[in-house]
Amino acid sequence: MIYNNINFDTYLKNYPDKDGFFGKYGGSYIPADLQKAMEEITEAYFTICKSSKFISELRRIRKEFQGRPTPISYLERLSNSIGNGVQLYAKREDLNHTGAHKLNHCMGEALLAKYMGKKKIIAETGAGQHGVALATAAAYFGLECDIYMGTVDIKKQAPNVARMKILGANVVEVTHGLQTLKEAVDAAFDAYCKEYKTAIYCIGSVVGPHPFPMMVRDFQSVVGIEAREQFCNMTGELPDAIVACVGGGSNAMGLFSGFLNDPVDIYGIEPLGRGTALGDHAASLKYGEEGIMHGFNSIMLKDENGEPAPVYSVASGLDYPSSGPEHAFLHEMGRVKYDVIGDDETIDAFFTLSRLEGIIPAIESSHAVAYGMKLAREMGKGSILINLSGRGDKDMDYIIEKYGIR
Ligand SMILES: Cc1ncc(COP(=O)(O)O)c(C=O)c1O
Repeated sequence: MIYNNINFDTYLKNYPDKDGFFGKYGGSYIPADLQKAMEEITEAYFTICKSSKFISELRRIRKEFQGRPTPISYLERLSNSIGNGVQLYAKREDLNHTGAHKLNHCMGEALLAKYMGKKKIIAETGAGQHGVALATAAAYFGLECDIYMGTVDIKKQAPNVARMKILGANVVEVTHGLQTLKEAVDAAFDAYCKEYKTAIYCIGSVVGPHPFPMMVRDFQSVVGIEAREQFCNMTGELPDAIVACVGGGSNAMGLFSGFLNDPVDIYGIEPLGRGTALGDHAASLKYGEEGIMHGFNSIMLKDENGEPAPVYSVASGLDYPSSGPEHAFLHEMGRVKYDVIGDDETIDAFFTLSRLEGIIPAIESSHAVAYGMKLAREMGKGSILINLSGRGDKDMDYIIEKYGIR
C-alpha cells in the first residue's frame, strides 16, 4: 500500500534508515563515548536478529515462559452495551507473564545483554510494568538489575515495587524534579553513562537513541503479527480500526506494525489528564513541538525555556513529555491518527470493562478502551481491535484510594 508517497509493503525494512531516522525524527544525540556503546549494541542486534539460534531461543521463551501467543477476546457485553452493531475486540497483552506487553521487549533486550557478555541491566520505570518485566528477565537470565523510579511512582505503584524487589532487582529511588518517569529516565541514563562497559540500558519503550526505537519495535511486533492472523481467523476479515494507548509508544508500535500495510484505520491515544493546559496532560504528539530529549529527536512538550515540560496523567506509564520518533513520523505523514482521552473517561472505561467483561485493565490500557468505546459510538458499524496492553492489578490500591469502588 502506498500512503503519502511511502510504500508500506517495504516500510518496516526501510525505516529507520541506517542512522536511526524515521524521516527527520529519531537519530542518536548522545556523547561520543556513549555513541560507541550504541554502535556496539546496534551491531550486536543486527547480528543476533539474523541468527537462527537467537530467533529460536526467543520463540521458545515466548511460548514456554511468557505464555504467547496471547489471545484476542471478543468483547460481547461491551459491544452490546454500545448497541449500534459495532463489534469490539481486545488483544490480551494483559495475559502476558508479568501482566503487560513490556516483557516482549525485555526478554529480547536481556537475551541481547547476555549475548554481549554484559553483567547488569539498567532501566527506568513509570508504572513499574517495565521494571517488573526487566527484573523478571534479569532473574531468568541471571543478570544484575538496577531499576530507577521516581518517588511519586514508587508510592503509586507499590505492588510493582514489591514485585521488583522480590525478583531480586535493586530499585533506586529518584527524588528530584517531579519524581516521575522523565526524572527516572534521566537518572537511569546517567547511571548507564558511568557503567556502559559492563551494563546495558534496557529502554522501556520505543524511545531513546538509535537502535532502541527500532529494536523495541521489532521485539514488540509479535503483538501485531499475532493479532492480524488471529483477527482474520476469528472473523474472516481485518478490523476496520485498531486502537492503542501511547506513552513512549511500544505497545502501540507493536500492534500498529502488523497493520500499517492494510486498509485499517489506526489510532494512537495519548493522555489528556486533567485538561489542555501545559502541565495537566502528557499529550506530546497532539500539543508538542519538535525537540531533542533523552538522545532522540521527536515531538515533545516544552516549557517556556524550551526544556521538557512537566507532565501529568492518571496513568504513571503514560506520564512522559515525548513519544517515540516513529510515532512522530507516522503522525506527520497521517498514517496514524493521534487523539486524546482524559482521566475521567479513562476511569469510567476501567470500571466498565471490569464490570461488563471480567477484565480489569491497567489504567494505561483504559485510555485505549475509553477511546475504542467512543469511536464505536461514532462509527456506527464495523469492528475495532483494542490493544489491552496490561492488567490493572498494579492499580488496585490507587484506584480504591482515589476513586473508591463504583
Ligand atoms: C500496561 C501499560 N500500557 C502502556 C504503557 C505505556 O508504554 P508504551 O507507550 O511504551 O506502550 C505502560 C507503561 O508502563 C504500561 O504499563
